[in-house]
Amino acid sequence: MLLIKNIRLMDPKSGRDEDTDILIDDDRVVLIAKGIGSEITDEEDERAALDKDTLLIDGEGFIAAPGLVDVHVHFRDPGLTYKEDVITGAEAAKAGGYTSVICMANTKPVADTAEIVKYVMDKGNDTGIHVYQAGAITLGLKGQELTDMEELMKAGAPGFTDDGIPILDEKIVREAMEKAAVLNVPLSFHEEDPAYIACNGVNHGKASEHYGTEGSDRKAEITLIERDLEIALETKARVNVQHISTKEGVELVRQAVKKEAGDRRIHAEACPHHFSLTEEAVIEHGTLARVNPPLRTEEDRQAVIAGLMDGTIDLIATDHAPHATEEKAKPMSEAPSGMIGLETALALGITNLVEGAGMSLMDMLEKMTINPAMLYNLDCGYVAEGGPADLVIFDPDEVWTVTDEFKSKSKNSPFVGMELKGRVKAVICGGQIVYVD
Ligand code: DOR
Repeated sequence: MLLIKNIRLMDPKSGRDEDTDILIDDDRVVLIAKGIGSEITDEEDERAALDKDTLLIDGEGFIAAPGLVDVHVHFRDPGLTYKEDVITGAEAAKAGGYTSVICMANTKPVADTAEIVKYVMDKGNDTGIHVYQAGAITLGLKGQELTDMEELMKAGAPGFTDDGIPILDEKIVREAMEKAAVLNVPLSFHEEDPAYIACNGVNHGKASEHYGTEGSDRKAEITLIERDLEIALETKARVNVQHISTKEGVELVRQAVKKEAGDRRIHAEACPHHFSLTEEAVIEHGTLARVNPPLRTEEDRQAVIAGLMDGTIDLIATDHAPHATEEKAKPMSEAPSGMIGLETALALGITNLVEGAGMSLMDMLEKMTINPAMLYNLDCGYVAEGGPADLVIFDPDEVWTVTDEFKSKSKNSPFVGMELKGRVKAVICGGQIVYVD
């Protein structure tokens, strides 16, 4: 048994925000009450009976929240494990406070078969956290032919995505959404039309001028979001617009959500880098800040924040995208896009959303726990008696400087050297302590 004493519990699902104790037995939270272990509570509730080797954690000054849920990570396994693998990716996740993650399908080979999905999920079983593998929407991420979704779901895929590669054929998008609506499974979309991109990962504007290229025009994102939201409204599929970067994109989602009748099926995701940085970072940090879709203008960053504040954007996801140092050392036009994100996400949220923009910590946590869990039908993202014992314990006030000593195999982060507020102190998953700072 594990007893966390005197902690501030914040649970966005129930809205609970209180100083309390939390008792964990096996992989479940069994009791949330003040004074567990003291005579008063013992008399009141037999569930409070502690066994003799109950482990005590002093939570004074810290917050306990549901273990964070990231629906967008790249663990590069199989095939690109010099960048990351399931084990090191999970270590990075734990250090960031995450207990459930969904891996994208752009592995090598692509996660378009039950075999690959099972391989990742089996390997994930040994990490101490919940690692899920999304299935590809199209075979080989080629955008031409749908995968066997039922088969991949049977293997454990909680949803589907061609992330990394936009699906250009509208007919395929419609087919995928019609199928997903029947299967009641979410589809996540990478919205960037290459017709408007000369050099991806570099915003068309100040950054592209600096690098002497046409870069990536915002229209690339706007046109595909517009197209796919229309199809989503027609087919009633459950969709997630991934890593939204433009103010127009945010507004399109806002309007589409308004048009929905009944339950919300259109969702959108913002990444910490898009609410924390602008294209100035690409000029300052070079390839480390090259990411698809690119970092844009301050107006776009503010629109992403406003979208998070009013709930238009209901998910925060990292797009943790590890790349080797040698790859990122290449010139801008040749270096791969992406940055690692798991180990800095919570602190970037506290620093730039809560402190920087006045978002409530509860609202921010909602977008990192219960909302992503619900989108992907995962039984996690909440703390309640009888619920899973997956928790993050963090200090909301600790100020620390990001160093390149990441748990991830890669170090490609433009946040190294930055001072951030909020630090993960411990992570409990399945009732086990899987990380301590
Ligand atoms: O910058 C990115 N890198 N964006 C993506 O969508 C894919 C990712 C990757 O796989 O490296």
